[in-house]
Amino acid sequence: MRGKATVIAPANIAFIKYWGTQDWDRTLPFNPSLSMTLRECFTRTSVEILDRAGSDEVFFKAHGRSMEPASEAFSQRVLPHLARLRKWAGEEVSFRVATENSFPMGAGMASSASGFAALTLAVVAALGRQVTGEEASVLARLSGSGSAARSVLGGYVKWPAGEGPEEEHAVQVASAGHWDLRDVVAVLQEQAKEVSSREGHERAPTSPYFEPRQRLLHDRLERVRKAILARDFSALAPTVEEEAIDLHLIAMSSSPPIFYWRPGTLEVLAAVRRLRQEGVEVCATMDAGANVHMICTPDSEAAVAEVVGRIPDVSSLIHDGVGQGPMTVDEHLL
Ligand code: DP6
Repeated sequence: MRGKATVIAPANIAFIKYWGTQDWDRTLPFNPSLSMTLRECFTRTSVEILDRAGSDEVFFKAHGRSMEPASEAFSQRVLPHLARLRKWAGEEVSFRVATENSFPMGAGMASSASGFAALTLAVVAALGRQVTGEEASVLARLSGSGSAARSVLGGYVKWPAGEGPEEEHAVQVASAGHWDLRDVVAVLQEQAKEVSSREGHERAPTSPYFEPRQRLLHDRLERVRKAILARDFSALAPTVEEEAIDLHLIAMSSSPPIFYWRPGTLEVLAAVRRLRQEGVEVCATMDAGANVHMICTPDSEAAVAEVVGRIPDVSSLIHDGVGQGPMTVDEHLL
């Protein structure tokens, strides 16, 4: 029914990272990426259609607070996407939007992938339109948050790079039910990162290691894809870690350089390596930030939390795992 809709969309963690944008108008990446959609870290967004042309209204509910008009910075990212979706719909309407995250903003988790996936799907649903997962992925991608293109799908998701109808949207590689992997996040930095992903994407091609990584990526992504299909953790782990280190190698050697890590990041990485030597099925990956996502099997989750939770620089742990993707719900925020 047209009028109002609420969508929950999850965050995702990339095993093969999107790092470097070749076309900002269409948010097209230089390289393909592959991620696991999460389930506990999500954004809930309600959209109400106002049948009048005029200005859109955006509200945000922070943890433990009531719903309030969104900040200037927040609105500046949301309003252009609403304008884009209105143009796509070809309708003279306005939107009232309310949104909240399941995780505190200060937890250092990326919220734009889940945020723009939820916003896109809630607008589409409130307008009473039907779209395929592929169309939703393209619409979410155009928000400028490329990783949102992957958050509209559940399970393990690949976003190819390049032009053409097959390349511009994400596709599911395997469902959530195929392999129950967990993500224990060691939170080391609570405040927002100093250098945005956008700046990172812009600086990436200035690194001397940017081109070599592009040449390695096809094989690396195939190794990850095959390891997921075969549920082969021992094949997945070294490749996921190699890729995470490469992203930070490129960031640190960009001009000007970007250092996302904190001393605690290295401590967690060393603990993960030790655990793996002891036979615990775990590997580490980091997005554009200091926090470490520890990907592990269900049997290993408790040991990982026990050991890494004792590291003094780790302020908290978030327990997450592979999820089914977005869903429409009846608990509206408006
Ligand atoms: C390192 O441009 O999608 O997480 O600005 O948070 O929307 P936001 O990020 P985006 O870049 C994501 C970069 C990454 C790797 C990845 O998720 O593929």
